[in-house]
Amino acid sequence: MSRPKLIAGNWKMYKNVAETADFLAKVEGFQGAELLLFAQSALLSLFANSKLAFGPQNIYWEEKGAFTGELSPKLAKELGASYALAGHSERRQFFGETHHSAAKRALAAHAFGMTAVFCVGERLEERDAGQTMNVIRAQCAPLFEMSPQAPAGFCFAYEPVWAIGTGRTATSAQAEEVQVALRAEIAKHWGETAAQNTRILYGGSVKPDNAKELMSCPNVDGVLVGGASLEAESFLAIARAAKG
Ligand code: 13P
Repeated sequence: MSRPKLIAGNWKMYKNVAETADFLAKVEGFQGAELLLFAQSALLSLFANSKLAFGPQNIYWEEKGAFTGELSPKLAKELGASYALAGHSERRQFFGETHHSAAKRALAAHAFGMTAVFCVGERLEERDAGQTMNVIRAQCAPLFEMSPQAPAGFCFAYEPVWAIGTGRTATSAQAEEVQVALRAEIAKHWGETAAQNTRILYGGSVKPDNAKELMSCPNVDGVLVGGASLEAESFLAIARAAKG
């Protein structure tokens, strides 16, 4: 089993050019955990000379064509992206992303030499109705259908919608419980070995003061951080928490 912790930041639609350069200068020398940033497409070329792993927050599944407003996976790769985020709940909520299209985007990342971080997670009313795993199974179904085998390195992120940007983190027990169940679901489709090697991140109000406890769970293989990834200091504090 090889699941080194991955500390990923999702900058959403926040940073500009100067802020990106400033952030990169501050985190450049960090060693000890694998860092990854998901930035707006227009910022990606600024990462070219950094040692950080980076990727877009969304990609399309065709290499090129009349798809106004989308980002080609080939272009993302050409800009140096090694990861791509897919199926984030904000894409699902505001931009009509479906389980099916999210899966196509995630698999396109692998088809073009990148690694997907595929987001799943339930809304509060779904949790309250005891539907968490049913929701996650449905979110993953097209992915497993389209890809009967595990794409190498494929990552999941469990992001309960009620914990995103709310300051309300899932407890480490809640995160672990869902991530154990998600790993079992992965094993069912991709086999036990692939499941044991697949990293599952937790995301939703991760901060320097709760990161260590979350990452001490055996099935939390890293974190996907929104707000607290915007400042280099807090992002690095979270990264240091990965070292145990
Ligand atoms: P917050 O850390 O701001 O809750 O955002 C989480 C998230 O959506 C990461 O993708």
